[in-house]
Amino acid sequence: MADNPAPALAGVPYAVTDPELIPAERYHDAAFFELERRRLWPRVWQMACRLEEIPNLGDYVEYTILEKSVIVVNTKAGVKAFHNACRHRGVRLATGPGNCAKTGFICPFHGWRWNAEGTCTFVFGKEIFNPALLDPAEIDLPPVRVEFWAGCAFINFDDQAPGLLETLGPVVETLNARNVDKLKMDWWYGTVLPTNWKLAMEAFMEGYHVMRTHPQLFDLLPVAGYGMDADGEKSARQLDARQTVGLMIDFYARLSSGMAGMVHETEVAVLEGLRDMDLPEDPMAALGAFMARAQAAVTADGHARGAPMFDVAAVNQSHPFHDVEFMFPHFFLLPSFAAMSAYRVRPLTPETCLFEIWSLVLRPEGEADDTPKAPTMLAYDSPEFPEIPMQDYSNLPLQQLGLHAGQFRHMRLSREQEGMISNYQRLIDGFLAGRDAATLAKATAIANSGYNAPILDLGF
Ligand code: FES
Ligand SMILES: [Fe+2]
Repeated sequence: MADNPAPALAGVPYAVTDPELIPAERYHDAAFFELERRRLWPRVWQMACRLEEIPNLGDYVEYTILEKSVIVVNTKAGVKAFHNACRHRGVRLATGPGNCAKTGFICPFHGWRWNAEGTCTFVFGKEIFNPALLDPAEIDLPPVRVEFWAGCAFINFDDQAPGLLETLGPVVETLNARNVDKLKMDWWYGTVLPTNWKLAMEAFMEGYHVMRTHPQLFDLLPVAGYGMDADGEKSARQLDARQTVGLMIDFYARLSSGMAGMVHETEVAVLEGLRDMDLPEDPMAALGAFMARAQAAVTADGHARGAPMFDVAAVNQSHPFHDVEFMFPHFFLLPSFAAMSAYRVRPLTPETCLFEIWSLVLRPEGEADDTPKAPTMLAYDSPEFPEIPMQDYSNLPLQQLGLHAGQFRHMRLSREQEGMISNYQRLIDGFLAGRDAATLAKATAIANSGYNAPILDLGF
């Protein structure tokens, strides 16, 4: 870390000057939010859509971030992105998902038209305009940078930013080994949370909360979580080999019913089949034997179903992963066996955000599916949410309120397990301070370190 970071952060209000302390104002101050709007969001790679949302020619979605709106459209020349505004007098052209193959995009005001490639194809009453105003370079839809990874289209408003994969860093290889680009949606939920977008993300950046927020999971961990039992005492659980393995299976089953995607029901069925497997007497050796069998069995089951499966055991060895992988600034993937959950978080106002969750699974190619075209929107406290996100969401409104209660100046972070929060928050300061794109891309690759990371040096 730089010896004296202060001068570089001049002009950044509520900057993180001690990496273990995150100023409270960053989660509600209107000027800080405004600075993020102007200096952060226009310069970052943002997950704009999953490609299975737009499988056919002409399929498009609208991606919005604060006041900005982008059309992401499947064209003959591949998926493209355009600024979503009529070139005549600015009307937003696309709202929500649709297909433009037959009609293109038609402005509802005076009927100007564009094809999927963004070329203007019709101006009503052309002759009443000064021809100079109708130069194609002026009236074709301006493109937005778009690149692809993990079965998703990512957009960036900054033409100077290094490419997507370079910016994301080593997490790309870790997840590519798990065939991340082949995952398909099982379901998709969205909710508006009454919290700052960063507060919502931070609920998923450490496992320290599992003991209190998800006691049903903590109680099923055969090895006491974080080396502590629920009273914070260091203790070993007194279980025999079969109980240890039984508890592990119960844990995955509860994780699956409570979080879906992270462990898919097809995977739980495979694990359940191992309940009576032969085990060595030592509980830890039994757990090791079970995990090896489980990984092999999930792999074999995927192959048997014709899914684009990878060798789970081999990949876990060659590409160790984190339970939560983060792609700055707002995208998460949560691997376990082969299925994953995903999150995307977007700011709406200083104290509200849009939070989406996907359950993703490796499905046999060509297997019929009914890919949702939009998230099922639920109230954040809806009982329809799976148990685990509902538990996480339940803390967040109280946390946002607590920030205003008085005498709360900063978050105090565990430097060993809550470092991920510090790392990306300091990266945000790099954007707000206007650091150069190459430095920020390097720091992004570091901040994408995964769950429970310690506080890291971002190189500035
Ligand atoms: S504003 Fe779109 S055609 Fe006039
Ligand atoms: Fe959680």
